[in-house]
Amino acid sequence: MSRLQRYGGWALITGASSGLGRAFARLMAAEGIDCVLVGLEGERLEALARELSAEHSVCCRTLEQDLADDGFLERVEAFTADIPVGILVNNAGIGCGGAFATRDPKRIAQIIKLNCLAPVVLTRAFLPQMLARNAGAIIMVASLQAFISSPFEATYCASKAFDLHFGESLWGELRKTSVDVITVCPAGMKTDFFKADGLSGEDCTRMWKVSACPESVAALTLKKLGRKSVIAPNVAGLVGFLARLIPRRWSIRVVEFVTRRLVHYEQL
Ligand SMILES: NC(=O)c1ccc[n+]([C@@H]2O[C@H](COP(=O)([O-])OP(=O)(O)OC[C@H]3O[C@@H](n4cnc5c(N)ncnc54)[C@H](OP(=O)(O)O)[C@@H]3O)[C@@H](O)[C@H]2O)c1
Repeated sequence: MSRLQRYGGWALITGASSGLGRAFARLMAAEGIDCVLVGLEGERLEALARELSAEHSVCCRTLEQDLADDGFLERVEAFTADIPVGILVNNAGIGCGGAFATRDPKRIAQIIKLNCLAPVVLTRAFLPQMLARNAGAIIMVASLQAFISSPFEATYCASKAFDLHFGESLWGELRKTSVDVITVCPAGMKTDFFKADGLSGEDCTRMWKVSACPESVAALTLKKLGRKSVIAPNVAGLVGFLARLIPRRWSIRVVEFVTRRLVHYEQL
């Protein structure tokens, strides 16, 4: 039995079609974990499912589902009613970069539903069965920005602070059970995230230069399962540490300065 299999045979991974979610799915399948892949784009999910089944002989199910939709849980529960989900990866997330006063109110609401509400609803749905089986793991995907209030990313960084506090609180609550909860706080990663957030090709390239591979972030998270949280890559942990030491108004001004230089939202 592999290290991950002790949590149960199946993992449910949200936002599995790309980036960090896909990296988690690949690592878990390599350890013989069957996967439920949830995301917006069915074709990409199915392509990944075919790849994982062929390479690792695991079972994969794909569910094309907008997790910001009201009532998404009924579909997820119906889809997983006959399998024991031992690992829940709350990964799907979007950003909303730019001056807050100009952001689309619908997108702002969608961020809160997807980044905050969906992980809470899914965790509440799957945790009782993990506790009943005496085994389980919940992975919350927050961000380094959870520690640092970020001008031009107000809703996003607040949503990630929510994820961090939710995940770490649950870790404390479940510390003496057989359910592990870890919150990963990645710094920038080379994924589609920046493009989906509306950054230009040039800005994406600039961000990618200072970003980590999602595969290394996923691997570090799985290695540290059992801890309360991890900042990834390791070197970014220093930034998280310093951000907690210096006065908050300084860190906010540093982020503002860096953001204005790294990205060119038209409203800056
Ligand atoms: N990239 C970074 O620099 C960075 C840094 C810190 C934290 N994070 C966090 O890491 C997580 C993964 O992001 P990523 O970097 O891997 O970005 P990504 O490649 O854009 O992946 C986002 C995933 O979320 C899915 N998704 C988006 N909206 C959805 C919705 N309404 N319902 C269901 N699924 C939805 C996407 O599905 P489709 O592809 O099918 O649309 C995709 O699979 C996010 O929570 C993000 O906040 C990212």
